[in-house]
Amino acid sequence: MPLDTSFVVVALWVSLTGLSWAEGYGICNWDRMRVNTIRDKVYIDGGVLWQNVPLPTGGDTQTRDVDAAANLYYLNFSSTFDTTKTNLTALFGTISKTGGAAGNRAPEYHDGAMFANEGELILYGGALDETDSSSEPHDDETMRYERYQYGPQRDSWSPAVYDGELDNDVTRYITSGAGVSAPSENLGFYFSGLHAENWGPVYDGFVNETSDRLITVDMSSMGDGTWSNRTLPGEIQNRINAEAVWIPVSTSGALVIIGGVTDLATAGDRLNDDQKKRSSATSPSFMQTVPVYDIAADKWYLQNTTGETPPMLTQFCSVYASAKDQSSHNIYIYGGFDGLDASNARTDDVYVLSLPSFTWVKLLSGDAAHARSTHRCVKAYPDQMWVVGGVKIAPTDCLDDIISVFNLNTGKFQNTYDPTKYSEYKVPDMVTAQIGGDSSGGATKTAPKSWTNASLADVFSSKYTKTIPTSWPYQPADTNAPVISEVPNKGSSGFPSWAGGIIGAVLGVALLAGAFVFWCLRQRRKNRQAPPPAKSVISDRRSRIMGWVVGVPKSGDTTMDDRTVFDGDVDESKIDPSDATTGASPEAMSEPVHEMPDRSTVLPVELPTTYNNNPLPVPNPPGSPALSSTAGSQTGYVSPMCPATPEPVESEFAGRPAHHRHYSSFSSSDAFPIADVLHGENTERNPHRQTGVSDISEMSVSSEGTRVNHTSETTEETRS
Ligand SMILES: *[C@@H]1O[C@H](CO)[C@@H](O)[C@H](O)[C@H]1NC(C)=O
Ligand SMILES: *[C@@H]1O[C@H](CO)[C@@H](O)[C@H](O)[C@H]1NC(C)=O
Ligand SMILES: *[C@@H]1O[C@H](CO)[C@@H](O)[C@H](O)[C@H]1NC(C)=O
Ligand SMILES: *[C@@H]1O[C@H](CO)[C@@H](O)[C@H](O)[C@H]1NC(C)=O
Ligand SMILES: *[C@@H]1O[C@H](CO)[C@@H](O)[C@H](O)[C@H]1NC(C)=O
Ligand SMILES: *[C@@H]1O[C@H](CO)[C@@H](O)[C@H](O)[C@H]1NC(C)=O
Repeated sequence: MPLDTSFVVVALWVSLTGLSWAEGYGICNWDRMRVNTIRDKVYIDGGVLWQNVPLPTGGDTQTRDVDAAANLYYLNFSSTFDTTKTNLTALFGTISKTGGAAGNRAPEYHDGAMFANEGELILYGGALDETDSSSEPHDDETMRYERYQYGPQRDSWSPAVYDGELDNDVTRYITSGAGVSAPSENLGFYFSGLHAENWGPVYDGFVNETSDRLITVDMSSMGDGTWSNRTLPGEIQNRINAEAVWIPVSTSGALVIIGGVTDLATAGDRLNDDQKKRSSATSPSFMQTVPVYDIAADKWYLQNTTGETPPMLTQFCSVYASAKDQSSHNIYIYGGFDGLDASNARTDDVYVLSLPSFTWVKLLSGDAAHARSTHRCVKAYPDQMWVVGGVKIAPTDCLDDIISVFNLNTGKFQNTYDPTKYSEYKVPDMVTAQIGGDSSGGATKTAPKSWTNASLADVFSSKYTKTIPTSWPYQPADTNAPVISEVPNKGSSGFPSWAGGIIGAVLGVALLAGAFVFWCLRQRRKNRQAPPPAKSVISDRRSRIMGWVVGVPKSGDTTMDDRTVFDGDVDESKIDPSDATTGASPEAMSEPVHEMPDRSTVLPVELPTTYNNNPLPVPNPPGSPALSSTAGSQTGYVSPMCPATPEPVESEFAGRPAHHRHYSSFSSSDAFPIADVLHGENTERNPHRQTGVSDISEMSVSSEGTRVNHTSETTEETRS
C-alpha cells in the first residue's frame, strides 16, 4: 500500500501545517481603521494594522505595521477575487500621505471617521497612542484626499492628499463615535463617542467621557469643509461606537442611530462592576429604541422597534439598501460584540432593521469562527456588501479574510466577488415575510406598531428626491487577482513543488477526502471479498454510509444485521479490539485509526480558543444526513471522517464560504514591507502643485499593469 499511504501522509502533512493559524503572509487583521468610498474605490486609513510575516527560520509571526500610518490605502471595486484563494492583501493599493515616512504629519489615528462625497474624503478624529504630544498635529488639523475636482474650476489642481483645517472651533479631539456620510447631501456626521477630560487631546486608554455632541461637516465646497458642533437633546443618550446610518427620506435624509454601549471595555481597560451593570442595563435599549434625526428640520426623535431585536452591540458595521419602490429602507448590521469585556465573543450575525416599519429581522446566524469587530462595511453593488478589516480578539488572531463579501439579497456570505456579477437590490424573503410585499418592494407594513410622534411619520412618508450618485457597474481590472499559488517557495525543502501552489484548507479537505475515498474504495473492495464477520452490531443511523464504505450488502440482505461496522465517530475507545481479530474487516478497524486524523488533529478549521469555543448552533449542511448526537452539537471542529461527516467540513454550511485559507508556513523566508509590494494609485503628478500640498502625495509605487489611463481619469475631474 505505498501509494495510498504516501497520499494520506501528504494529506495529513498539509492539514497539519494548515493548523498553525498561519494565514498567508499579509494582513492579519486591522483594528479601528476609518473607511469610506469615493466612486469605484474603498479607502482605508489609520487603525492598528497587524501583518502576518514569515520568519527567516520558517513559520510566521504577527507584527504591528507602524509604517501603515504613512499611507492611505484603497481597494478597487473592479477587482475580482475569491476570498478562499486570492491573496487579498495584494488587492490593497497605497497613496502616501506624507511623501514617505510616517511621523508627526500623519500619526496613526485609531477610530474616528472618514467623511466622503463623490469627490474627496476628510479624515476626522480618532485616538493616538500616547507619544510626544508636542509634535502632534494641532487640535484643528485634519487631512483630506481630493480625488475628483468639483465646484469652481481650480487651476494647477491634481488629486492629492492635502492638509486641512477644522473651523468654527471644532477640534479633532473625539473618537469612538458613529460616523456617517451622505454623499448626495455633501454632509458628514459624527454622533456621540468618547472624549478626554475637558475635551483635551485624545489618547488610547485616556478617554473616559462620552460625548453629547453631533459634529457635522458640510463638504459642498471642495477642500473647504464647514464644521459644526451641536449639543444633542437630553433624551438622546450618549453612546460609544454606535452605528449611524443615513437613509434617503424627506428633504435631506435622516440619520438612524443603532446600538452602541454606555461603557466599552478594551484590552487595557477593564470595566468595573458598576460600569458593567450600567451598560448591561442600558445598552440593550439602544437596539430597542433608536434615535432618528431629520436632517433638514434638525429634529431628533426616539422610535421603538419590534421584532427580533439584536442584543447590545458595539464596534459592528452597517449599510442600508432601499427597495426599488422605496417602500422599505433596510439597514443591515453585521458583527461586533457586547463591549463588556475585551475578550467576550465577537458575533458573525447579520440583522436587518427595516424602515419605516422599524422591524428587526435576524437575517443570518453566523459562524463564530468568522466573527469580528471594529471592521467596516461598504456597499460595492446594490446587492453586495464588503466587510473590510476588523479583529477577532487578540492582535495575533488572524482573520481568514480581510475582505468578506455579503450578499444583501440572499443574506449569505459569498466566496467570490466579480465586478461583472451583480444584481439590483431585492428585499430578502425573511424580511418580506415580516413587512409584506416581495423582493422588489410593495411593503404592506409601512409604519411601526405606534409612531412616537406623528411628525416622524411625515418624515418617512415624504420622498427623497435628490439623485443618489452611484458608480457601478465597474469594469473588471485588467490585472488578475493574485492567488495563493504565487506564494514564493524559497526555503522549503522536500515539499513537493506541485503542492506549493495549492496549499490551503480547500486542498487539505480535498486531499483528505480523496485519500479517504481511496481508502474507502479499497476497503469496499476488500470487504466484498472478505468473509462476513461473526457477530457485531450495526449502527442504524450510519448503516447506509458505512455500508457503502465497508461494502455492506444492500439493506434487505439478511446478513446485514450481523455485520460489523465501526462507529463512525472513530472513537478509538469504542472499537472492540476483539473485532479486529474476527477477520471482519481488519483494515477498516486499524487503518483509519492510524492514518486518519483523530479528533485532536482536526482539519484546517479553526482550533477552539478562548474566543471561539462558543458552540453556536450550526444548521446541518443542507441535504446532509443527520449527524450523530455528538456531532450534532457541532462546534465547527469536526473530524473529516466520512462516516461522521460525509460532506467536507463547513463548505456547505448555510452558503458560508470555506473561509479558512491556510498557507504553508514553510514556503517563504523573505519579509516584504507592505509599501514595497502594494500597488500605487497612479495619477499624474502635477509639477505646479500649489503649496500646502503634501510633497509626494501620490507616490507611485506601482507594479506593471496597474497604470491608470491618464485621460480617463482627468475627464472625470470636473463636476458641476
Ligand atoms: C500577499 O500579497 C502581499 C502583498 O503583495 C505579499 O507581501 C504577501 O507575501 C502575499 N502573500 C502570499 C501568501 O502570497
Ligand atoms: C464641542 O463644543 C464644546 C463646547 O463648546 C467644546 O468644549 C468641545 O471642544 C467641542 N468638541 C469638538 C470635538 O469640537
Ligand atoms: C476621567 O478621568 C479623569 C482623570 O483620571 C477624572 O478626573 C474624571 O472624573 C474621569 N471622568 C469620568 C466620567 O469618569
Ligand atoms: C418604547 O419602549 C419603551 C421600553 O420598552 C417603553 O417604556 C416606552 O413606553 C415605549 N414608547 C412608546 C411610545 O411606545
Ligand atoms: C413631535 O415632533 C414635533 C417636531 O419635532 C415637535 O414639535 C413636537 O413637540 C413633538 N411632539 C411630541 C409629543 O413629542
Ligand atoms: C482599478 O480598476 C480599474 C478598472 O476599472 C483599472 O483600470 C485600474 O487600473 C484599477 N486600479 C488599480 C490601482 O488597481
